[in-house]
Amino acid sequence: MSQFWKPGAEKPRILDDEEGGVLFLSSSASSSGYGYVSIEKQRQRLPVYKYRTAILYLVEHHATTVIVGETGSGKTTQIPQYLKEAGWADGGRIIACTQPRRLAVQAVASRVAEEMEVKLGEEVGYTIRFEDVTDANKTRIKFLTDGVLLREMMDDPLLTKYSVIMVDEAHERSVSTDIVLGLLKKIQKCRPELRLIVASATIEAKAMAAFFQTRKRRTTKLVESTTSEESAILSVEGRGYNVEIHYVEEPVSDYLQAAVSTVQLIHNKEPYGDILVFLTGQDDIDAAVKLINEEARNGGKNSSGLFALPLYSGLSRAEQELIFSPTPRGKRKVVISTNIAETSLTLEGIVYVVDSGFSKQRFYNPISDIENLIVSPISKASARQRAGRAGRVRPGKCYRLYTEEYFLKEMSAQGIPEIQRSNLVSSVIQLKALGIDNILGFNWLAAPSPETMIRALEVLYSLGVLDDDAKLTSPIGFQVAEIPLDPMISKMILASNELGCSEEALTIAAVLSIQSIWVSGKGIQKELDEAKLRFAAAEGDHVTFLNVYKAFLQSGKSSQWCYKNYINYQSMKKVLEIREQLRRIAQRLGIALKSCGDMQAVRKAATSGYFSNACQLEAYSHNGMYKTVRTSQEVYIHPSSVLFRVNPKWIVYHSIVSTDRQYMRNVVSIDPSWLTEVAPHFYRQQAPNPFIH
Ligand code: CDP
Ligand code: MG
Repeated sequence: MSQFWKPGAEKPRILDDEEGGVLFLSSSASSSGYGYVSIEKQRQRLPVYKYRTAILYLVEHHATTVIVGETGSGKTTQIPQYLKEAGWADGGRIIACTQPRRLAVQAVASRVAEEMEVKLGEEVGYTIRFEDVTDANKTRIKFLTDGVLLREMMDDPLLTKYSVIMVDEAHERSVSTDIVLGLLKKIQKCRPELRLIVASATIEAKAMAAFFQTRKRRTTKLVESTTSEESAILSVEGRGYNVEIHYVEEPVSDYLQAAVSTVQLIHNKEPYGDILVFLTGQDDIDAAVKLINEEARNGGKNSSGLFALPLYSGLSRAEQELIFSPTPRGKRKVVISTNIAETSLTLEGIVYVVDSGFSKQRFYNPISDIENLIVSPISKASARQRAGRAGRVRPGKCYRLYTEEYFLKEMSAQGIPEIQRSNLVSSVIQLKALGIDNILGFNWLAAPSPETMIRALEVLYSLGVLDDDAKLTSPIGFQVAEIPLDPMISKMILASNELGCSEEALTIAAVLSIQSIWVSGKGIQKELDEAKLRFAAAEGDHVTFLNVYKAFLQSGKSSQWCYKNYINYQSMKKVLEIREQLRRIAQRLGIALKSCGDMQAVRKAATSGYFSNACQLEAYSHNGMYKTVRTSQEVYIHPSSVLFRVNPKWIVYHSIVSTDRQYMRNVVSIDPSWLTEVAPHFYRQQAPNPFIH
């Protein structure tokens, strides 16, 4: 191991110190999966338990309490219960706890329901987009995504049903977290009795507390203050187990392969304890899981007793449960995860961490007007969090697939908040719907660039959502804001109403809301391509979705039929559910449910939503190169699209993924004359367009 690995040179330091060597981390010393410890005992052993009284005191006396505590210390699962026990949910009030990730919402809600011995969906419930597992009368503790909380503000701007709102995982700085925090600050002014908790693994607690400071501070130490408008800071400390850090000696070229062989090396050389591997996305995770499990199945000498499980959003409930269930004796579990396991979820029994040093991050460029997910280097803060996952049950080890020099000299200290890396079309419309007219002057925790805000305003103006004064138009603007989808998809649905194809648009919208309707997996590519051909429409992916949906209904929604056609049955069930909810929303908005079977109308509706993503095939391109109409960016049709290699002259795309090239996913062919028809301001032909800079 020593030829390949080099231990970190630095002296042991404390977690939030600048450079990492060995980290001290909290341990809950709760059940490691072996032996029985009562839930009550487990709860009392968590580091936050010692702070129960302090937390309740601070929440009682301060409008905002910032709580920093290492991952696994019990913030998410315990604090809402403490609040309930202290009476914050009496009189029909509700305690809310937000998470940036849906999977985390589901996982913590079921854990808390289990701890409280109640049925999930009754006293403890959760809401994520398109899935509401709460009871209007019974639910007292509610977990929800911060995106759902934002939506709730549209109906109830002061969030009156909540007594305490805990904004959790604040260090993640998701777009919705940042916006929710800005809005909560406004709400606090009208609702002095509302209590806010901002919880995180590592944030600059002082900056966060200062953000919520409504008055000038008089005392020097925030925590000494007893004035309720002032924020308090509490830091949950835990006794820690050491995590020994190892670096590769030379940079690795293939981190997937390196991760797999490191897992096998650990399995071979190290005592028992589960392994957590951080890779970047579903594809590489599935590939690594397959490599490890196949090797184990084939009796590979480095792999016997080893089994790998994937962890990423979009897993079914059954798959999630496997991850959390104790490892059988004599076996070693390897969980291969996206950065969801970095802080959102705690897995018991992890002793070894393998960190690829990468995660998939959203990047938006206002100049090219393209947003995509790019595999990018993580920050030092993330690397430390990842390492920390190894030190919960006993001293652990973290293997970093990058050099120490790289860590010390090149890794950035902190990540950039997502709001500064995102397209803001969705956010701007939500703020407008909440009556925040001056977007530039909004109380941003971190302000996005003016270019990005202006781009968003332009698109919304051209969608007919905003008027000349940048106010929501009636009815279109309000309707688009009401539909819980990307504004471009919502606009497609509204346009379909006039074109007589709303049934089709709802199906397309539902399919676009899930990751994929096809079975994934390497090694079945040929079969998958053949299956796709059975449904493929020359018009593009959107029309193909309609073919699949129709055939699925004709099969009697059969799982057998899905299996035969390489279609993911779980995804199709989800499509049905989402479609049903969208249908109800559409009816509420007065959209007539009509089907016309005319694919030209369907494509035109798609163009009404996605005109800003129009592309033209390069005239002399032999390799399928397209250019975006507005900014002349080079883009290609993704191999998963039915139009891959078909290359119609004009298309609009739904999203971009970027690997070696910028690939358009889910594309549909269009007639270019529709562009000027549906978005004259955006594609004004003659006069110079005031919106194109
Ligand atoms: O929020 P924080 O990271 O501070 O901790 P938590 O999520 O409240 O986790 C506290 C404890 O509950 C940990 O020991 C977790 O392993 C456990 N837990 C669990 O066993 N299953 C879950 N679905 C969630 C938490
Ligand atoms: Mg948590």
